[in-house]
Amino acid sequence: MSRKIEKNVEKYYADRAYEYNKTYLRPERQKDIKKLHKLLKRLLSDHRVLEIACGTGYWTRTIASVSKFITAVDINEEVLQIARNRGISSDHVFFIQDDVYSLKKIKNNFSAGFAGFWWSHILKSELKRFLALFHSKLQSDALLIFMDNRRVEGISTPISRIDIDGNTYQVRKLEDGREYEILKNFPTKKEILETLGNKIKNLKIKFLEYFWIISYNI
Ligand SMILES: C[S@@+](CC[C@H](N)C(=O)[O-])C[C@H]1O[C@@H](n2cnc3c(N)ncnc32)[C@H](O)[C@@H]1O
Repeated sequence: MSRKIEKNVEKYYADRAYEYNKTYLRPERQKDIKKLHKLLKRLLSDHRVLEIACGTGYWTRTIASVSKFITAVDINEEVLQIARNRGISSDHVFFIQDDVYSLKKIKNNFSAGFAGFWWSHILKSELKRFLALFHSKLQSDALLIFMDNRRVEGISTPISRIDIDGNTYQVRKLEDGREYEILKNFPTKKEILETLGNKIKNLKIKFLEYFWIISYNI
């Protein structure tokens, strides 16, 4: 069952590739988005970054402008093609097709890990395993950054279903009318803290109006 839920997320983003960037144009979110770009630039300056679930490379471009190098991974060639066409591929920006649940092609030469809008698409029961794998691809004191959506009443797509583990789902519609039921969790600060446990250092959590962002060291 969990594989099916993960596959739904994968397929949905492959089919949505050409509409995806519109999400960053929503007027009400511009103030927060500006803050996120600024924060990422400050935090990831001079780092060797592994970005997972990079999508169309929207955040990759920002990070590439300040980092030593960035390897950005996604499972869908449809989104990677758009990312590669941003004109940022170079000798310090690499796009690789791989599955975040295995990361088989990734060696551990990174001082930082980043994932935008990915935490929310992981089943609660898989989060710790996912984090352990992601951490294992980074150097021992690496910096981690995750950011994702907050649920905003009246603006976020409504929750269509909650499963027995408390995972929440939304029914999303593409411009051509196709519908998908997608796993989308909105963790509280308490849930984030519980998931990360007490082995991490320097944890910072920021809740903006539309997004949350965390940083910590392993
Ligand atoms: C919400 S989008 C985020 C894209 C990008 N990080 C951003 O913030 O613009 C989620 C991304 O995860 C990718 N994805 C889904 N399942 C994946 C998997 N198993 N391994 C790697 N990427 C996956 C999708 O193709 C999609 O690009």
